[in-house]
Amino acid sequence: ATAPADWDKPLAGKVALVTGAARGIGATIAEVLSRDGAHVIAADIPAAGEALCAVANKVGGTALPLDVTAEDAGKKIAELVKSRHNGLDIIVNNAGITRDKLLANMDEGRWNSVMAVNLKAPKQLVDALLAEDALNEGGAVVDVSSIAGIAGNRGQTNYGATKAGVIGLVDAYTPVLAKKNITINAVAPGFIETAMTAAIPLATRQAGRLMNSLQQGGQTVDVAETISYFAAPSSAAVTGNVVRVCGQSLL
Ligand code: NAI
Repeated sequence: ATAPADWDKPLAGKVALVTGAARGIGATIAEVLSRDGAHVIAADIPAAGEALCAVANKVGGTALPLDVTAEDAGKKIAELVKSRHNGLDIIVNNAGITRDKLLANMDEGRWNSVMAVNLKAPKQLVDALLAEDALNEGGAVVDVSSIAGIAGNRGQTNYGATKAGVIGLVDAYTPVLAKKNITINAVAPGFIETAMTAAIPLATRQAGRLMNSLQQGGQTVDVAETISYFAAPSSAAVTGNVVRVCGQSLL
């Protein structure tokens, strides 16, 4: 193998879909992938409107208002990448939600909504894009799991189950995607400073930061840089992995 000529733009010529890109980790993933040379399709719920457009403009990409749980979500993406590009090279399944409650009060609505966004959608998008033959050989899928999917977290049975499920998806799809020379990996971030974690009560938030191996809240860029590595040709032989970002001490 030969090393790519342009190390500054390892994703040059690639088209990348980032879900949940209007804010938080997803917005930073869009920025980093674009910096690294990719054309970014930034997708988020229609209600994200202006914030989504701002991200897409900032990275010179495309804004795609899209609820990932919609039945035709994958088909819509396939239509876009086939009509405007030569297919899709990178999928980052980042969109995610929490609907926390202690287990005894975990109603079905909270359970189902978290399942739909965090677990069902990442599978459906990949399935649909494969079925539409819209995912290019040599591509990469990166799923955003969580330390809660490895270690669990009080009040987050639904969330932790989906994030563990995402790791199961990586295992299941590794051989399937390898047939098309496509990699699939997951990142499992610890506590990252975003609007999602800003909603957590202060004391719990501080405890979350201290559980990170580096004893502080992680930054969105920490996650985004790891994702860019998984998306790049330099990791073409790296598939089926789960990498902790900002880790968590399980002691
Ligand atoms: P966030 O809440 O700031 O951003 C999530 C984005 O996903 C929002 O823009 C939201 O509109 C979008 N989204 C939600 N439902 C959607 C749907 N149905 N269709 C399309 N877009 C949808 O969250 P944050 O913190 O940036 O998290 C991003 C990912 O990282 C999530 O999967 C989350 O579970 C995961 N994560 C976050 C951690 C943290 O500490 N912030 C730790 C571990 C994992």
